[in-house]
Amino acid sequence: MVKIRTFETAQLATVYVAAIIEALITAHEHPVLGLATGSTPVQLYRQLVEFHHQGLHFSHVTTVNLDEYVGLSADHPQSYRRFMYDHLFSHIDISPEQTFVPNGQAVDLAAECARYDKILEAHPIDLQILGIGHNGHIGFNEPDQALQTKTHVVRLAEDTIVANTRFFSRLEDVPTQAITMGIQSILQAKAIILMAFGSDKAAAVRRALSGEVSTSVPASFLQMHPQVTFVLDAEAAVEMKMLGRDPIYSALEP
Ligand code: GLP
Repeated sequence: MVKIRTFETAQLATVYVAAIIEALITAHEHPVLGLATGSTPVQLYRQLVEFHHQGLHFSHVTTVNLDEYVGLSADHPQSYRRFMYDHLFSHIDISPEQTFVPNGQAVDLAAECARYDKILEAHPIDLQILGIGHNGHIGFNEPDQALQTKTHVVRLAEDTIVANTRFFSRLEDVPTQAITMGIQSILQAKAIILMAFGSDKAAAVRRALSGEVSTSVPASFLQMHPQVTFVLDAEAAVEMKMLGRDPIYSALEP
């Protein structure tokens, strides 16, 4: 069963997740972190940078990101490679060769997907961090009649494109395709933490945990994984009551 940890604020929830990552990095010789982009993990990365300033090292860590827009260069301000550089990689002691993000500018996208699957095979993920889209997507696995298991190219859903316009000056500039890890690749992580903050995520969180597994809510597949924790703030947890699961606020100890 999916564990749910609810905190009064997103800040407390973030400190909780950062402490889990710190413990993993400290305990493992070669930890592999699966990382996500979006506004949800921004404070998490800030906290990890803070831990680095206090002495936490990342030189033995490998990171594998979930997804990347097709067509954006690695240094485009809205590319996920650039996001990771700006928010985390440039502030910690990790070498670029240990950080993997799909190449959205690959000429042969099918070959790039196959290359990324090989990377995932070579670096089994110890802990995968996820956000969730309003439509229940994880990575860029959008609701569909069928979901792909491995790394693949997706056409982004209309509502995802609209949601992403806030990062681009014009709707026409928002990429319409992305490369994303597949559902099976995500489920292969040893442990998964999905973070969701704010009332606008409450319905997606409820649908992901409803007990049904459906391709119309990709995050619902997480219910099949043995070690998943949803880390929520109070607002994202408001619809938990509809599932008969009262949000009990957690203290910070794991
Ligand atoms: C994008 C990313 C997802 C992320 C989602 C939610 O679609 N591909 O990995 O979870 O946005 O983003 P936010 O955290 O900004 O709400």
